[in-house]
Amino acid sequence: MSASAIASNIQREPELLGQTVVVIGGSSGIGFETARRARTEGAEVILTARNPERLKHAATEIDALSTAAFDASDPFAIERFFGALPMVNHVMVTAGRPYYGRLVDMDFTKVRDLIGQHLSQALYVARAAINRVRPGGTLIFMGGTSGRHPAIGLTIVSEVIAQLPALTANLALEIAPIRVNLIAAGFVDTPLSAELLGDQLEKRRDQIRKTLPIGRVVGPEDVALLAVHIMTNTALTGATYDIDGGQQFVAA
Ligand SMILES: NC(=O)c1ccc[n+]([C@@H]2O[C@H](COP(=O)([O-])OP(=O)(O)OC[C@H]3O[C@@H](n4cnc5c(N)ncnc54)[C@H](OP(=O)(O)O)[C@@H]3O)[C@@H](O)[C@H]2O)c1
Repeated sequence: MSASAIASNIQREPELLGQTVVVIGGSSGIGFETARRARTEGAEVILTARNPERLKHAATEIDALSTAAFDASDPFAIERFFGALPMVNHVMVTAGRPYYGRLVDMDFTKVRDLIGQHLSQALYVARAAINRVRPGGTLIFMGGTSGRHPAIGLTIVSEVIAQLPALTANLALEIAPIRVNLIAAGFVDTPLSAELLGDQLEKRRDQIRKTLPIGRVVGPEDVALLAVHIMTNTALTGATYDIDGGQQFVAA
């Protein structure tokens, strides 16, 4: 087959044309890049986050359909948001952050709230989505691969990410035909990673480039590609998709 024949074969319709994607945590990092990718595939996007200014800026950059500023750890706010939502096709939840810390330094009040928060947020969203997400659409939650090996400071992260695959699989049965999937990322180069690492960021990037089998740092655009694939491939439900460049197999 000639190169021009191949090129004409791969011209295709945008994969999310006519669909609407909600990103809860869509003003930055993985959520924002997923929204941007969904736009290039023809979707309308609705973005949410807490900081209204950053949200407005993100929405303008990708010409979002609408925005809503609320704290996704608040079950009433989630209920209100979904209550006012038109029917949509997909919902991705990227709101949240990990809790790193040694046992001796833990603030137990914070820890108790955080452990419950990540899991209950997924439950709130799943229930609220039942009458708002079209059959065949997907919910996508974020987990991780880095807490799969025990390490000092990872107790809470490991605990939370270990539970998410089971939660995802069970929800996929409970709210079918809406699909439910989980993305488990390793280090992703986002504003959150920059904030957590501070002046150690460049050193961490270097270390990752040297040790990961892929020889590069995973970016939010990589996760966005996977997220959009999960949206478009209607065979996928109840599953966890690792995206860490092989980080979990090496000492990185
Ligand atoms: N980056 C990584 O290496 C990595 C690896 C594995 C898993 N993850 C997980 O992936 C998710 C996204 O990470 P990211 O690196 O893309 O983070 P990010 O760049 O900080 O983006 C997070 C987004 O969520 C919003 N958000 C945070 N907390 C929220 C809340 N309580 N309610 C509503 N919106 C909220 C933020 O905006 P506002 O602050 O304005 O609310 C922002 O739009 C997080 O759950 C993170 O734990 C990240």
